[in-house]
Amino acid sequence: MKKLIIANWKMQLSYSASLAFAKKIKQTKKSSNQVVICPDYLALPAIAAILKGGSYQLGAQDSAITNFGAYTGEVSPANLKSLGVKYIILGHSERREHLHENSAIINAKIKAALQNKLMPVLCVGEKLAEKESGETKKYLNEELRHALKGVKLNKATDLVIAYEPLWAIGTGQASLSSEANLISLFIKQQAFKILKKNIQVLYGGSVQADNYSQFLKEKNIDGLLVGGASLKLKEFNQICS
Ligand code: PGA
Repeated sequence: MKKLIIANWKMQLSYSASLAFAKKIKQTKKSSNQVVICPDYLALPAIAAILKGGSYQLGAQDSAITNFGAYTGEVSPANLKSLGVKYIILGHSERREHLHENSAIINAKIKAALQNKLMPVLCVGEKLAEKESGETKKYLNEELRHALKGVKLNKATDLVIAYEPLWAIGTGQASLSSEANLISLFIKQQAFKILKKNIQVLYGGSVQADNYSQFLKEKNIDGLLVGGASLKLKEFNQICS
């Protein structure tokens, strides 16, 4: 079965570097997996044009809680949809931490994305302290319950969850794939209780050329959310292949 590989470029590239990188990606061999590129908002329209007609899909790194209104600085999911965006990363730990996004906001964003037929990629993950105190499952369960409260899906493929342990993001210290597999199973079980659907779960956190295949071999891991390594052409091609 095809895996889902999502490239999260974060705010790492200049506008011109984003476009140049998208052009290089477009020229690479078609992947046997589904690959989604998430540049920053500003680069989205130009990158939509660059990737048009190819096999890559487009994602955004966030979106607003509603389509239009007095929300200074926000970006409408309806406008993202009109650009050809298909996926929206929501609840990323960097937004929770630096921008104080809480579960109520993430919940509203998920609902707004779904209303626009965009696929939310809900990120959840425990901090090191929670892992060390054996509270990973308790914490993840809370995150899922709040973020998915009142969410109704037509089909299982309307939403994806990314398991991203915070201690693994950008640290070079990825989770053991066997552990990530067990947590992914737990997330699927909890999501089923809430949504009554079998949701796909991705792993994210220091995915690199030397570990990606271990994660993709695991039964309960349906794909990857890749940060740093998605900006290295050779490495990213290898991960997508
Ligand atoms: P990383 O980032 O691959 O650089 O650890 C993953 C993410 O934050 O989505």
